[in-house]
Formats: sequence, C-alpha cells, structure tokens
Amino acid sequence: MKLRNWCAALALSGAVTSAVAQSDFSPSPTARKYAPRLVEIMSAAQLQHLKLWLAGKDKNWDLAAYELRQLTDSIAEAAVLYPGIPVDNVTTMMAPLLSVSDAIAAKDSRKFAGSMKGLTDGCNACHSSMERGFVVVRLPTDRFLPANQLFAPQGKADVRR
Ligand code: HEC
Repeated sequence: MKLRNWCAALALSGAVTSAVAQSDFSPSPTARKYAPRLVEIMSAAQLQHLKLWLAGKDKNWDLAAYELRQLTDSIAEAAVLYPGIPVDNVTTMMAPLLSVSDAIAAKDSRKFAGSMKGLTDGCNACHSSMERGFVVVRLPTDRFLPANQLFAPQGKADVRR
C-alpha cells in the first residue's frame, strides 16, 4: 500500500523527500523555486481534512482515498520544507494516517469516524506543542460545506444539494 510505503519513508526522516515526489503532479523547475508558506500548506491540509471527512461520510471511498493522499502529501511537504517542525511531531501522524487508510480500504464507516478523531487529535497535538494551541481543528459538523463540490459517489448524488 502506498501510504504504508510513505510512512516507512517518513520514519527515516532523511528519505522524506521521496515521499513528496510520489505525487502525480511534479512542479516545473521554475515552480520548485517558490516554496509555499507553511500556513498555505496548512490551509490546504485543513480543506483536505474537511473533504476527507465529507467523502468518508458519504462512503465515497475513492474520493476519500484521494483526499487522504493529498493530506498525507501536505504533511510530508510541511516536514520537508520546514525542518523547524520536530520530526517526532510528524512521525506521530503515521499511526492515525494508517488507521484512516485502513478504514477506507475496509469501507468501514465506524472505523473511519473513529480514526478521523485520532487524526484530528494528531493535528492539534502538533499545534499545541508548537505554540499554536489556538489553532484547534475538529471534525466538521456542517454537512453542506464546502458547498461547491459533491461528495456522494456519482450517480448517488443527493439532488437537494
Ligand atoms: C507536525 C506539525 C503539524 C501537524 C501534524 C499539523 N499542523 Fe497545522 N500547523 C502547524 C504549524 C507549525 C502551524 C503554524 C504555522 C505558522 O504559524 O506559520 C500550523 C497551522 C495550521 C493552521 C492555521 C492556518 C491558518 O492560516 O489559519 C491550520 C488550519 C492547520 N494548521 C490545520 C492542520 C490540520 C487540519 C492538520 C491535520 C490534518 C494539521 N494542521 C496538522 C503544524 C502542524
């Protein structure tokens, strides 16, 4: 499984860069010069976390797997580009990321909800330990956000949206 490979790579922190190269879309040499600010990576992670939740709630496991991969890449990117983030704070995300991945592979809604709580705790643990305890992430309560994308698998879309 790709995510497992990624986490194994992340554990050997020196090899983390190879994980980022796993994306289908590699930046051009010019784009490579423009590193995103950490808050930009985190804002993307926030949206990916939200979409991951909504896709999983709607049992759209393909989309959930996709968003999980994007989120995993965001966290890896933050670790690679911002070495000031303690490696331990990143590696502790491995277990919750794997747990969400397993829940998606098993198409298990209950396990998905539980593992998403663990993942969210992991986000907040890092924030707290880095004097950003005021950035508190939680599982979304409003099913209708973001309002400009459908999360149900195609063909089963809720027309009321
Ligand atoms: C390994 C550490 C770490 C992990 C894990 C982490 N973050 Fe962050 N996050 C940070 C740091 C550090 C900042 C503050 C960046 C700054 O102030 O420049 C931050 C900031 C943020 C912000 C504030 C950005 C803004 O502009 O409002 C959000 C939102 C956020 N993170 C979401 C998440 C989510 C969602 C997760 C989990 C899926 C997560 N983060 C996991 C370290 C982490």
